[in-house]
Amino acid sequence: MISTSFSQRILLAATLCVSGALAQSDFDWQTLHANTTLHWTPCYSAPLQCARLQVPMDYSAPHNGVTASIAIVRFPATAPKSQYRGPLLFNPGGPGGSGVDAIVGAGAEFATVFGEQFDIVGFDPRGVSYSTPTISFFKTEAQRRFLVPSPNNVLYASFNASSSSLADSYANMHLLGKLAVDNDPNQYLQHMSTDNIARDMLTITEAFGFQKLQYWGISYGSVLGATFATLFPDKVGRLIIDGVEDMNSYYTANFTNGMLDTDKSMQMFYDACFKAGPDACAFYAPSAAQIASSLAALTASVKANPIAVLTPESHGILDYVFLRNAVLDALFAPYDAFAALAQGLAALQSGNATLLYAQNEVPTFECDCSTPAPAFHLNNFEAYMTIACGDALYVNDTIPQLQQFYENGLKVSTSFADLLLTTRVLCAGYKTHREGRFTGPIGAKKTSFPLLLIGNTLDPVTAHANAVKTSLTFPGSAVLTQDCIGHTSLVASSDCTFGYMRAYFVNGTLPPPGTVCAVEAELFPFPSNGTATKRSLESAEVLKMREAGERIGSVVRAIMRRSL
Ligand SMILES: *[C@@H]1O[C@H](CO)[C@@H](O)[C@H](O)[C@H]1NC(C)=O
Ligand SMILES: *[C@@H]1O[C@H](CO)[C@@H](O)[C@H](O)[C@H]1NC(C)=O
Ligand SMILES: *[C@@H]1O[C@H](CO)[C@@H](O)[C@H](O)[C@H]1NC(C)=O
Ligand SMILES: *[C@@H]1O[C@H](CO)[C@@H](O)[C@H](O)[C@H]1NC(C)=O
Ligand SMILES: *[C@@H]1O[C@H](CO)[C@@H](O)[C@H](O)[C@H]1NC(C)=O
Ligand SMILES: *[C@@H]1O[C@H](CO)[C@@H](O)[C@H](O)[C@H]1NC(C)=O
Ligand SMILES: *[C@@H]1O[C@H](CO)[C@@H](O)[C@H](O)[C@H]1NC(C)=O
Repeated sequence: MISTSFSQRILLAATLCVSGALAQSDFDWQTLHANTTLHWTPCYSAPLQCARLQVPMDYSAPHNGVTASIAIVRFPATAPKSQYRGPLLFNPGGPGGSGVDAIVGAGAEFATVFGEQFDIVGFDPRGVSYSTPTISFFKTEAQRRFLVPSPNNVLYASFNASSSSLADSYANMHLLGKLAVDNDPNQYLQHMSTDNIARDMLTITEAFGFQKLQYWGISYGSVLGATFATLFPDKVGRLIIDGVEDMNSYYTANFTNGMLDTDKSMQMFYDACFKAGPDACAFYAPSAAQIASSLAALTASVKANPIAVLTPESHGILDYVFLRNAVLDALFAPYDAFAALAQGLAALQSGNATLLYAQNEVPTFECDCSTPAPAFHLNNFEAYMTIACGDALYVNDTIPQLQQFYENGLKVSTSFADLLLTTRVLCAGYKTHREGRFTGPIGAKKTSFPLLLIGNTLDPVTAHANAVKTSLTFPGSAVLTQDCIGHTSLVASSDCTFGYMRAYFVNGTLPPPGTVCAVEAELFPFPSNGTATKRSLESAEVLKMREAGERIGSVVRAIMRRSL
């Protein structure tokens, strides 16, 4: 996802010494040597296999001896050889999300949903996670933890948390931009760009012995997919982009158009809470407007009186920026988060900040201070800044220009412009761009296979209008609408959406124009009757698919939450 609150997400990215939900450390990638051909080694748990693919660092000088190594994992196809259809690549967004983690977490479920004819392939984009050289701005992890924004160490959060917020983050982002240059003696960072990641996807596909890409990308993965289709229109085998960004906005570091539905998403929390009633929504009040004003009152209260919190896991301050980030975070994945957010807010309202804090906390940093930074594969923040800002036009806005940019953005979203637009401040600090990189425009008169685009009716950071707009630049493509709130189709499992995706990958069928898919999840489920009764009515086949879809969703949402 391109634009979001940095604060919680970033520090989640930095939990080096704390094992995550995904078994990330179960395989030592350093034991694999990169090669220009794929040599598979069993890894993690059977039947997963891993390989490192050697690619040119600079595709304009492919034989200069400087290379990058792409970490690749596959869940191998199980269909008979005669039905084998080659690799299907997945990108979980960011930029900076790990595709390896996605397939390690849910490879079997991807195969269940999309078909056993495919090798389900996760790769870490160049510079990201297990791919090397790693994007890193710091010499040690301890240095990183002091400078990378986090909930307990907020450098970069809101345009209006205080009168100095903007100037402070402007200066801090310039510091990070200078550290990026200082820690990049070989000038690799300029090559960590989306056009090169797209070229790598073609190299990966060719290494499998295929000519055309089969791909599903969500959030930033939509930029990657659309860039691929623009650069290589005759190499499109199957290509789904989901949670589609405004492409021109991405390539100009202007996230304003992403926020077209942010306010409506916020309003949905109030409306759905009211509609659910006091038993299902703990923050209920007798009208949606009263729920909104309760939240405004709480926000003002913690702004005036920030609350110190200690939990068994960590300690920190629940303040204005923390609270606003917690609410924005819930808009990304409302089917997971709305009921819990309501409980956290209700507890806060009655004087107990612990629950809301704990829902968004990150375990306290515990590490050997001398551990070198490049050893850590969780480099989401640096990867985001390098790829997103390095791709975009040079942003040399002054502080007054940034202030003006924010004020213009308020015309699009009053609820979260102060958080979402801070990504431009980040890019104002970043100074490493490659001459001649791809910066748009996106689109192709004809692609070798039509694209499928997916947009939710209400997505807080990639509005449905962006999917429609992007579709117009790829004649013949289709837009599938998923009727739900949240970021990307993976926020709520839909038998209908997965059915169309499967039909597209397996049979090459596009959904009819105007197709709208319902989802099975509820925003404020009643704990007692929830999903159990509904499930008992479904066939075993439908349930198997749905459970696989839900597992993919929860694994990928965890990765997105760590990413930006
Ligand atoms: C790459 O693999 C080939 C076999 O396909 C092998 O001959 C070669 O030595 C390998 N190169 C490296 C650098 O390991
Ligand atoms: C950003 O995008 C918005 C909406 O398209 C536009 O009004 C605004 O002028 C743009 N700002 C900059 C600095 O490009
Ligand atoms: C506050 O909430 C936490 C988490 O729900 C709970 O463990 C704790 O007992 C509560 N504290 C008080 C004083 O009620
Ligand atoms: C940034 O500044 C340079 C010179 O200082 C100027 O040429 C360029 O147009 C500026 N870029 C933007 C996007 O304003
Ligand atoms: C900060 O800006 C947001 C809009 O982005 C607005 O809703 C909020 O009231 C502002 N808060 C303060 C304290 O000015
Ligand atoms: C693909 O097409 C065949 C023949 O029309 C059909 O039986 C099958 O259900 C389709 N598969 C998917 C996944 O839509
Ligand atoms: C769940 O229970 C609530 C309250 O008992 C009821 O209003 C609602 O209709 C039920 N929902 C389903 C899907 O059965």
